[in-house]
Amino acid sequence: MSAVLRDRRGVHFEVLPPLALYIHIPWCVRKCPYCDFNSHERSGALPESEYVAALFRDLEALLPSVWGRRVHSIFIGGGTPSLFSAPSIDALLAGVRARILVEPGAEITLEANPGTAEAERFRGYRDAGVNRVSLGVQALDPADLKFLGREHSTDEAIAALETARRHFRRYSFDLIYARPGQTAEAWLAELERALALAGEHLSLYQLTIERGTRFYAEHQRGSFVLPGEEQAARMFEETQARLEAAGLPAYEISNHARRGAACRHNLIYWRYQDYVGVGPGAHGRFAEAEAKRATRRQSGPENWLAQVEAQGHGTVETSVVTGQDRVEEALMMGLRLSDGVDRALFAAVAGADPVEALGEGRLAPLVEAGFLEVQPDRLKATAAGRQRLNSVLERLIA
Ligand SMILES: C[S@@+](CC[C@H](N)C(=O)[O-])C[C@H]1O[C@@H](n2cnc3c(N)ncnc32)[C@H](O)[C@@H]1O
Ligand code: SF4
Repeated sequence: MSAVLRDRRGVHFEVLPPLALYIHIPWCVRKCPYCDFNSHERSGALPESEYVAALFRDLEALLPSVWGRRVHSIFIGGGTPSLFSAPSIDALLAGVRARILVEPGAEITLEANPGTAEAERFRGYRDAGVNRVSLGVQALDPADLKFLGREHSTDEAIAALETARRHFRRYSFDLIYARPGQTAEAWLAELERALALAGEHLSLYQLTIERGTRFYAEHQRGSFVLPGEEQAARMFEETQARLEAAGLPAYEISNHARRGAACRHNLIYWRYQDYVGVGPGAHGRFAEAEAKRATRRQSGPENWLAQVEAQGHGTVETSVVTGQDRVEEALMMGLRLSDGVDRALFAAVAGADPVEALGEGRLAPLVEAGFLEVQPDRLKATAAGRQRLNSVLERLIA
């Protein structure tokens, strides 16, 4: 991976991490009550070609920061990217390839909702170059799908997964568990059905109540009660064990894959390697001299479109992450991984060996408590540590 490149100010990089491209499509048919992603309800026809043209301008504006580099993965996320027609996704990917070198064999993922209309587009997406889909199934229980505000039925989800399997060697789907009233037994039974439908990858998230969502207000009012901490912890542990036995061990807190089938794009985030992001609210982190450049795009879709139109880019914030901040950001990402961080690779992207940067004083109590493991070449959180990663991180980087 050693390369000598020069950026626009003539700074040399001896080693550059892989580069990923994130593309955000912000619209959904309906806002789900639990979701705090940058996603916006919009009915009627979407301004697909206008939007794709704006994405190109946003991408062109950041190209000088990554001159000469190749893109290893592309992730088209949302929102609901599968609301876009296959010709729009084809135009989008063709335009990206015309502007930046995309590695042969790059992973190109598209997030899709599992409705019938979306599944009908899968062949077109594949022909456009998409080689991995991730479907937001969320539940395989009709009453819970309704509670989660989803537009699709269980049968539609199963049919969409079958269509995904026919068109893509690589597909994944998301489920949300620890739902109100859900017992560990009911979840494990649902997990068996999920495993029968699974390919090489599954994302299994515990329901979290995010500030600003409809669920947040309802939960505050006491409209529903989540499973207790102990029960949620048991569901998490049993999920890990069952998936491990099924050959899809967790490689990250909520992500499971067969060997070699992890999402390469998300690994780039978790390893604190480099990515650029275009579209409303998209973030970027990429090497710049001895630091990381952090960028954020305007978050509202209309504001982003207006800014790209007026200024030729959607950036609203750009800063340089250095020193301890860079180490902390890298740790917050890397300790999510079951393998933790490779100390040498970490030093290359974060500027310091994590064990030396944190010091014995902070590490020792967490190692003794069984939440962290220090090895000659790695630092990792144990399974118990990953289960309560937020409080481990609070103690580590206080
Ligand atoms: C951007 S969405 C996925 C794509 C697509 N829009 C969909 O919903 O089908 C990313 C995933 O995060 C998960 N997620 C979002 N909000 C969550 C929450 N509050 N608790 C747990 N999981 C959540 C869902 O599983 C969701 O599929
Ligand atoms: S979960 Fe997916 S479909 Fe629902 S609002 Fe969020 S991004 Fe949109």
